[in-house]
Amino acid sequence: MQYFWQKSIRESVEKVLNSRFPFLFIFQEGIILGLPFILLNYKTYLQGTGKGAVEIAKACKAVSEESGIEIAVAPQLPDIYRVASEVELPVFSQHLDGVGAGSFTGHIFGKAIKEAGAVGTLINHSERRLTLAEIEASLQAAKEFGLRTVVCTNNVPTTAAAAALGPDYVAIEPPELIGSGIPVSKADPEVVSGSVKAVAKIDSRVKVLCGAGISKGEDLRAALDLGSQGVLLASGIVKAKDPKAALEDLISLV
Ligand code: G3P
Repeated sequence: MQYFWQKSIRESVEKVLNSRFPFLFIFQEGIILGLPFILLNYKTYLQGTGKGAVEIAKACKAVSEESGIEIAVAPQLPDIYRVASEVELPVFSQHLDGVGAGSFTGHIFGKAIKEAGAVGTLINHSERRLTLAEIEASLQAAKEFGLRTVVCTNNVPTTAAAAALGPDYVAIEPPELIGSGIPVSKADPEVVSGSVKAVAKIDSRVKVLCGAGISKGEDLRAALDLGSQGVLLASGIVKAKDPKAALEDLISLV
């Protein structure tokens, strides 16, 4: 094992293993220890579809339990129920529409994803962009059903605008670096630190994630050093030959 166990982390993990509600404990302990939040977006990658969605979630759960770091997954909509039923870890939707019950054919309804087992949702991912009014409506829908919210943005001004809407997290992801293998935390550190500063001025309760090209321990370390509280990532783990080993590398410098 490459990463360094701090005494406090080891103690937290022991508490987690002895707890009746281990993931609640991981979440609480993670906040207390200032551990990062890692959200793995499966997109529509073949490796993260159907049975693969469950296998990757199991790898995430194992690494989360070993490290005490909260790792959540965002599988495709039809896989939410399957993943949430088979693996005890936080599951997010990749999208949520700002609709209520009624005549909204083809939309994603907050209550449906909540009942499927999701605890949160991405909103406005670069590959599923929304208007500002739609982002606000999606946020309201998520809040109505107690879902955690991660609003994705593409630069400092949009990060500031998203923070003003009061999500739990904003996730800054420059689109040109998504899927590139070039980490935003190294290729464009200013967009991360600029987002962190902008959000702090607007609403210090909103936490900042960054994403795009993140896959290695040094990428996550750089992201945290720039002031972010975690990462949103996809291809580096979902498409890895061994997702568990890739996750262990990712958290190796936390
Ligand atoms: O949602 C995460 C994503 O857009 C970043 O993708 O493949 O660069 O980690 P990737």
